[in-house]
Amino acid sequence: MHLDEYASLTMKELSSIVEGFKKSKNAVILGHNYQVPEVQVLADYLGDSLRLAQLAMEADAELIVLCGVRFMAESAAILNPDKRVIIPSLEAGCPMADMATPEQVEAQREEHPGAVVVSYVNTSAEVKAVSDVCCTSSNAVDVVKAIDADEIIFVPDRNLGAYVASKTSKRIILWDGHCYVHSMFGPEDLELARGEHPGVRIVVHPECPPDVVREADFVASTGGMMKLAAEHDELIVGTEIGLVERMNREYPDRNFYPLSAFAVCRNMKMTDLPRLAYALEHEQYVVSVPEKTRVCAERALTRMLEMSPGPKGPSS
Ligand code: 13P
Ligand code: SF4
Repeated sequence: MHLDEYASLTMKELSSIVEGFKKSKNAVILGHNYQVPEVQVLADYLGDSLRLAQLAMEADAELIVLCGVRFMAESAAILNPDKRVIIPSLEAGCPMADMATPEQVEAQREEHPGAVVVSYVNTSAEVKAVSDVCCTSSNAVDVVKAIDADEIIFVPDRNLGAYVASKTSKRIILWDGHCYVHSMFGPEDLELARGEHPGVRIVVHPECPPDVVREADFVASTGGMMKLAAEHDELIVGTEIGLVERMNREYPDRNFYPLSAFAVCRNMKMTDLPRLAYALEHEQYVVSVPEKTRVCAERALTRMLEMSPGPKGPSS
């Protein structure tokens, strides 16, 4: 069927088509926490960037459908060269990942010989390939602490880099990249939210600016935020609204308030049910990484997995 035909179907029809393809094609749907709710509920697993990379390795499926942004599907493809990884929307990139090129990383290396390059997974496969180790928002502090060097070039999120710097004694050379969704939060949002929900604790993502992170009660990845949701009756949540929707759906008797209802990642929202059904039927768009790049990027990702709880790499 053509995409336009899928777009004319009801949610119920689309859901049963997706379920049917999942079975007939032995596919697993991995969804990021920022996906639209109708995709979230059809996903076999939801998670943050670290968990999605681990799930892709654990999956006993011939086809992995990664509902998220391109770097997430690329990580799955890098770690699973023998599996077919597809993404429903090719345009779903992460603008922050486009803020660093391999040439720029190499230039920084020349400027700071002896420094170790740590790249956030929100980077292209090419940038990972020239990095020493990767990290995600859930393990960045631990990864940097475990590195046997005092100087770190942290690529590309200056806010996550500043957060890491505040938690370690290492010299962190910051990159000038940022996430347009999390950069929009300011201390005034916390003040407003505290006024509206007195006494409710605030959790923010480490991609938020330092003056927001400083004022928050907790700082966590989206996976870490889900763990906090399990422990609190109420929370104010400073990240993309998809995660807040997930919390309120999974804990209907609790209250989770978005720090801003405008925190929407347009890129994450490019995946919808018609595209998901179309992707499954046509098994596209296949995400693959040239082998030379893949092998180098795999090394940086595997080093990160070795420093994190969970599966350690393709051979584990
Ligand atoms: P998490 O790994 O915390 O889910 O973050 C991914 C991301 O893109 C945040 O903007
Ligand atoms: Fe990229 Fe920000 Fe969207 Fe995350 S929320 S995928 S960092 S643009």
